[in-house]
Amino acid sequence: MAFVEEIRNAQRAKGPATILAIGTATPDHCVYQSDYADYYFRVTKSEHMTALKKKFNRICDKSMIKKRYIHLTEEMLEEHPNIGAYMAPSLNIRQEIITAEVPKLGKEAALKALKEWGQPKSKITHLVFCTTSGVEMPGADYKLANLLGLEPSVRRVMLYHRGCYAGGTVLRTAKDLAENNAGARVLVVCSEITVVTFRGPSEDALDSLVGQALFGDGSAAVIVGSDPDISIERPLFQLVSAAQTFIPNSAGAIAGNLREVGLTFHLWPNVPTLISENIEKCLTQAFDPLGISDWNSI
Ligand SMILES: CC(C)(COP(=O)(O)OP(=O)(O)OC[C@H]1O[C@@H](n2cnc3c(N)ncnc32)[C@H](O)[C@@H]1OP(=O)(O)O)[C@@H](O)C(=O)NCCC(=O)NCCS
Repeated sequence: MAFVEEIRNAQRAKGPATILAIGTATPDHCVYQSDYADYYFRVTKSEHMTALKKKFNRICDKSMIKKRYIHLTEEMLEEHPNIGAYMAPSLNIRQEIITAEVPKLGKEAALKALKEWGQPKSKITHLVFCTTSGVEMPGADYKLANLLGLEPSVRRVMLYHRGCYAGGTVLRTAKDLAENNAGARVLVVCSEITVVTFRGPSEDALDSLVGQALFGDGSAAVIVGSDPDISIERPLFQLVSAAQTFIPNSAGAIAGNLREVGLTFHLWPNVPTLISENIEKCLTQAFDPLGISDWNSI
């Protein structure tokens, strides 16, 4: 038993996982949020829905988003009008576009993170990739490993359809990988292209409209590792603790369904209330064990 214990101790890292580098990327095409209602109703050929456009403008305004980057161009919508309809069969073309483009956008962010880290990519031992945009086998993780020229033995984890909690999930996963594998250097990538969810407006689906106002395209990459070699690495943050919970009576509050028409999403109007009524309990559970009660202090 003592022998096994020794092996386990040698396998594990000593210190907490740290963020060693960060990179982000977006498509080139940018639309300002103040122009987005005009843009969205024009490219989806919905300008006759004047009351709905005004409501969309109000939602865009309240979102406090300044601008969005989008891969989908007007030319692509002309060529594939079913993507811009409210509900038309379009999964094949959506999948074709995003399964090719999501790993490429991920690569741009990963290259920036690798550059900031400054170490050879052969030192990447693990790859964690998360996207809600498109599914296939082998996955976007496999494509990205090839695009970057990572070692064939890189240990890959592919996570699909996490929605907005992709970032939290990949960091939690990377922390466990880094702390339980001495010397691990985990490349973590999230990449999203909203071609999967983009659709025209409908009076019958105001929550869909909210999503159209909120979501954009982009990717982010971090490199995570424990016990940094500070002669050549520069840790930016320590990942002290990671957790996940679900809150009561929230089943169905945020949901997505992959259908012939692409990914549809459903948002209850009380999502902000559900969050505001539960956030204090979540913060207490997260920070009490660390002895932090003044959350603003961090
Ligand atoms: C959409 C949002 C930006 C609007 O900001 P706000 O400060 O709440 O502003 P308002 O309450 O005035 O809402 C603006 C309009 O959007 C409508 N609206 C807001 N949330 C809605 C929802 N989930 N479904 C349908 N309509 C919604 C409101 O009824 C209102 O319509 P009106 O102008 O005709 O009265 C904000 O409510 C928000 O971010 N909601 C959370 C969205 C969400 O679910 N996020 C998770 C995504 S995975």
